[in-house]
Amino acid sequence: MKFPLLSPNSSETLSEPRLARSGSSTNVRLGAFPRVRNPLSIADKIPSRAATGRSGSFPLTLLLCSAAFFLLTACDPPGKPGEDEVAAADITDFKTLYTQNCSGCHGPNGQKGPGRILNDAVYLNVIPQDALKHIIEFGREGTAMPAWAQSEGGPLTPKQVDIMVGGIESWKKPVNAPAGAELPSYMETNPGDPVNGKHLFVRGCYACHGPGARVGSVTDPSYLALSTNQNLRTSIIVGRLDLGMPNYRFLNAGHALSDQDVSDLVAYLASLRPAESTMGITK
Ligand code: HEC
Ligand code: HEC
Repeated sequence: MKFPLLSPNSSETLSEPRLARSGSSTNVRLGAFPRVRNPLSIADKIPSRAATGRSGSFPLTLLLCSAAFFLLTACDPPGKPGEDEVAAADITDFKTLYTQNCSGCHGPNGQKGPGRILNDAVYLNVIPQDALKHIIEFGREGTAMPAWAQSEGGPLTPKQVDIMVGGIESWKKPVNAPAGAELPSYMETNPGDPVNGKHLFVRGCYACHGPGARVGSVTDPSYLALSTNQNLRTSIIVGRLDLGMPNYRFLNAGHALSDQDVSDLVAYLASLRPAESTMGITK
């Protein structure tokens, strides 16, 4: 499908500041940043793909995330620290913290957002708790995922970070790996083989992600320029059950991908990234 919001020169369109300035993105509200006043949430502005039955495009997703990120970093007009700001540091209710800070990108209750599904049994069983905490504290450099820890310039106190980690982990449910198989590792353990990755891609992914397919292309260099290897890896392991992508258990032509298969697929996609992108090395 075509991406209606993107010009053919999509990598340029995706650059954050230009996008954010030219759009009506001042309507986007990110809760913990009380200086951004308009109460429309990002989610309100995105027609739910599940609800409309229209499969979204990744660039659109990234575009909106980028716009939000620009607001996070740049909407900082001069003003007195308001009372609401003081109160923000005192919030200890997970649901409130999550709704204010994360649901715009990761969806209400961690599903159906433009960004990664967080409320998913496979995801939560695969990601180690320290990795979850680390990405919340430090964000992921070069992507729309900002750092949230106050020590990194974000809004959350150390206590609030712990509440966030605990709250997300409370969504965890047990999963049983297919008989005899272990869950793939969250982080890559062996370098992947792009040649085998391409073979797996054609077999298991092309139908949904090939050029002209219903779902957006994940082989598009401008998409890959904005996505880390870890993000690709997580996406392949976890899928997007909320949006119709099966998880690793079904992605090898209906069978489970091995841990090495996942690495091979990532190596293949990474090989299509524009040479100047640094995403391959972002942790
Ligand atoms: C402006 C949009 C945005 C907001 C707001 C946001 N995130 Fe993210 N988040 C992203 C994007 C984009 C990624 C994927 C980054 C990449 O490419 O690796 C991500 C990745 C993550 C990941 C890692 C996924 C993986 O690969 O395992 C976690 C965990 C996460 N976010 C948690 C949170 C939490 C908790 C909050 C709220 C405190 C939050 N995010 C707020 C955009 C956002
Ligand atoms: C049955 C269709 C289907 C198959 C098969 C499928 N996907 Fe997906 N994939 C989706 C859908 C739907 C989404 C979510 C699209 C969205 O965010 O709008 C998605 C999302 C993704 C994303 C995340 C994009 C992002 O950053 O938001 C990646 C990466 C991905 N798929 C890679 C793969 C790979 C690699 C394979 C093969 C191993 C594969 N997919 C197989 C349907 C599929």
